[in-house]
Amino acid sequence: MAGKAHWEEVYKQKRPDEVSWFLETATLSLNLIGELGLKADDGVIDIGGGVSPLVDGLLDAGFHDISILDLSGAALKVAQDRLRAKAERVSWIEADITQVELAPSRYQLWHDRAVFHFMTTQDQREAYKRNLVRALRPAGYAIIATFAEDGPEKCSGLSVQRYSTETLSAELGASFSLLKSCRETHRTPWGSEQQFIYCVFKRS
Ligand SMILES: C[S@@+](CC[C@H](N)C(=O)[O-])C[C@H]1O[C@@H](n2cnc3c(N)ncnc32)[C@H](O)[C@@H]1O
Repeated sequence: MAGKAHWEEVYKQKRPDEVSWFLETATLSLNLIGELGLKADDGVIDIGGGVSPLVDGLLDAGFHDISILDLSGAALKVAQDRLRAKAERVSWIEADITQVELAPSRYQLWHDRAVFHFMTTQDQREAYKRNLVRALRPAGYAIIATFAEDGPEKCSGLSVQRYSTETLSAELGASFSLLKSCRETHRTPWGSEQQFIYCVFKRS
């Protein structure tokens, strides 16, 4: 997994709509979140949120305990500038998810699009999962989206671990029950297609 320097450089060099993972709106994630019946004051964290428009959608949906965590301060600044005054309603955490120690049982929903797949060693995955299990409430939800098994082998020039619903479920282990999974064909700003899987888990 590349370090902070890689990601700071990406977000300093490229506009939000010049990266392969660019989304106009985080429609699929917002639809999946909408199906969970969360309360507006439930804690929600987006891991590796970058400049994603998910936070805009969560604010519009009325959530008011939103945390956006990312390794890159430059990315968080872009998202804050876009949100202007609304940025003050969000907690911004500049940290490496494999290093930080999140508050215990803090969140009802953990969301991650295109971050877990950068964890290509078991040590990185274990560190990530330690935070997931620590920070998610009992009976909380995790939505994790990664490149599918027929997705690209690299993202942002970095190798990724691709998953099927079965391999991602196995990686999370028995304390997470799969509620739903779906595939998405993501179209990059330059028109190529990338296959993603989105899995919705409930912590049991
Ligand atoms: C491919 S981008 C996806 C961004 C966002 N989730 C989206 O869907 O638009 C991966 C993001 O993960 C962040 N990232 C990579 N490794 C990380 C880590 N170890 N801890 C926290 N964030 C990380 C990067 O800075 C980048 O913003």
